[in-house]
Amino acid sequence: AVKVVALCGSLRKNSTNRGLIRAAIEIAKESIDGMEIEYVDISPLPMLNTDLEVDGTYPPAVEAFRRKILEAESVLFASPEYNYSVTAPLKNALDWASRPPNVWGNKAAAIVSSSGGSRGARSQYHLRQIGVFLDLHFINKPEFFLNAYQPPPKFDSHGDLIDREVREKLKAVLLALHAFSLRLRGTSVVN
Ligand code: FNR
Repeated sequence: AVKVVALCGSLRKNSTNRGLIRAAIEIAKESIDGMEIEYVDISPLPMLNTDLEVDGTYPPAVEAFRRKILEAESVLFASPEYNYSVTAPLKNALDWASRPPNVWGNKAAAIVSSSGGSRGARSQYHLRQIGVFLDLHFINKPEFFLNAYQPPPKFDSHGDLIDREVREKLKAVLLALHAFSLRLRGTSVVN
């Protein structure tokens, strides 16, 4: 099975982006054979400070996070937009796993966003740009942008996805990520 780690750029309890991840885990379980999605919490990571790197080792929470990334074949980012860019917690997680040796390399990835504005699009292209340096290979289509607050409500008060149409769009992203992950297997696209 393709092992996918899912990361959420929002730390708040009722995060709609984490709601998208919960829905993605369900969809994969119910209807995508050969795809396992695991949510990995980035909130325990300290703010990156290379003083915390001692003799090539990282703080325990960072080591555990890096291992999860290393063991995954693909990554699903649920990335809200803060000030037209990615959130600080997500950038911090990207940076910790980029520290030597970079554990993001040659993995397939996809982005979904629930944001407050029209499409939360700009931050996705920043995340793609970071991926160029980290050697992450994002699928290009289908793109997934969601305005969390535009009626009719897409999420309930706990941040759980309640909109069927959005669920179908999320499934399309997962199917594309699954297919691309299989295609990427065994290729070292760049190195
Ligand atoms: C935001 N929000 C936001 N939305 C957007 O579309 N474009 C933006 O530039 C910003 N900027 C921004 C900055 C800060 C500091 C906060 C806290 C929020 C709204 C944000 O994307 C929205 O609250 C999302 O729903 C957050 O995702 P969760 O927490 O629901 O997963």
